[in-house]
Amino acid sequence: MNKKMWDGRFAKATDLAVNAYNSSIAFDARMFRQDIRGSQAHARMLGSIGILSAQDVESIVTGLGQIGADIEAGRLAFDPNAEDIHMFIEAELTARIGDAGKRLHTGRSRNDQVALDLRLYLRDEAQVIREGMLQLYDVLLDLAEQNTETILPGYTHLQRAQPITFGHHLMAYVEMLARDISRLDDCVRRMDVLPLGSGALAGTTYPLDRAMVARELGFAAITQNSLDGVSDRDFALELAGVLSIFMMHLSRLSEEVILWSSQEFAFIELDDAFSTGSSIMPQKKNPDVAELTRGKSGRVFGSLITLLTMMKGLPLAYNKDMQEDKEAIFDAIDTVLLCLPAFTGMMATLTVRPDRMRLAAAGGFTNATDLADYLVKKGLPFREAHEVSGKLVKLCVARGCALEDLTLDEFKQYSDLIEIDIYEAISLETCVSQRQITGAPNADTVRAAIAHARQRFAD
Ligand code: ARG
Repeated sequence: MNKKMWDGRFAKATDLAVNAYNSSIAFDARMFRQDIRGSQAHARMLGSIGILSAQDVESIVTGLGQIGADIEAGRLAFDPNAEDIHMFIEAELTARIGDAGKRLHTGRSRNDQVALDLRLYLRDEAQVIREGMLQLYDVLLDLAEQNTETILPGYTHLQRAQPITFGHHLMAYVEMLARDISRLDDCVRRMDVLPLGSGALAGTTYPLDRAMVARELGFAAITQNSLDGVSDRDFALELAGVLSIFMMHLSRLSEEVILWSSQEFAFIELDDAFSTGSSIMPQKKNPDVAELTRGKSGRVFGSLITLLTMMKGLPLAYNKDMQEDKEAIFDAIDTVLLCLPAFTGMMATLTVRPDRMRLAAAGGFTNATDLADYLVKKGLPFREAHEVSGKLVKLCVARGCALEDLTLDEFKQYSDLIEIDIYEAISLETCVSQRQITGAPNADTVRAAIAHARQRFAD
């Protein structure tokens, strides 16, 4: 592979250090299927417009198919000295079928070829990621459904705030995940455009049938500017952005899982199969899956920054800097695909401790707002009601008791609007069940939200 496809103009062989530096096959070989698919479509189109003979098209398409099969079967190894996967496949094709192989690149540049392959590859991977996201979506919905009556404290500032249910809490993540999936779908829609035909940067003089190639490769549209067609990497950036937001969501849930599974909270217990032990402390059961997810989110954000920085100073059109796009976006994809099954499995197998959740909700004056609202319903302005409730909390803090432990007489010393119905009004069950507006934790409301969420992606 020492002979270069561009040798014609050069008097010297490439320095070995440059060879290794320049080569991308170590990381772009994974696009071999897309490269073959793209080249087959290009060859068929060249045949249809009379640039390649039917015989050449036949041997190119068959030859490429065999190369693909040989790679899949492990009979053909990638040549580490090849410049990239595109050069490798073309050289292999020519070695196998002769001159027809040399005609394949007519009317095409590696610049539009690599733009095509990357779009095809990311489009394929996006579907795999989407399926993984949907599995997690379903697991969270199932867990939410089992816990529409499981009361726990909702927090602000990580301080107990108001009682909600575990199902309601999980449905917040279902909403985030729904947006992640819809962002992924949007991103794929913009990615779904054929750049082939842009040439090196200025299109081509051959009357290529771009619409035919688009149809064959399943693209919804073709790019409208040849410079943009070869130098746009928005689609990779957008995917890195979508995956970054998704990982940020998983990282937040990971943080909660880590807190919840601590002995201090003990709201949940992770399954043994999704936890790890310590090499020295025999009692330990660690939430490594959640911690790794929280940790790996940083890699994905890093890929986004790599891509943004790589692109921001590039004059139109193609620049070799852009070869750096692949490792960044591939690592983002690999990281997400590594996280998803472990994370989903962890969520699917955890055990909920409703007793512990309830204890926490009962212990933190999470019904203090409802006490104030009770007084408002009896005619007190909210600001005054807030103050009465605050004073009662202060009293309880001093005594080490809960609001509902006070006697009616004690309540009345702070407001004679308070009657015997106060106990019912500030019970945790009432606090939750009375919150019935759309988006609130009432069990029926949450069940309706779950039903709605189940319909979302039911296509
Ligand atoms: N391996 C290259 C890449 O990934 C292919 C494009 C090379 N084009 C060029 N004009 N050198 O970007």
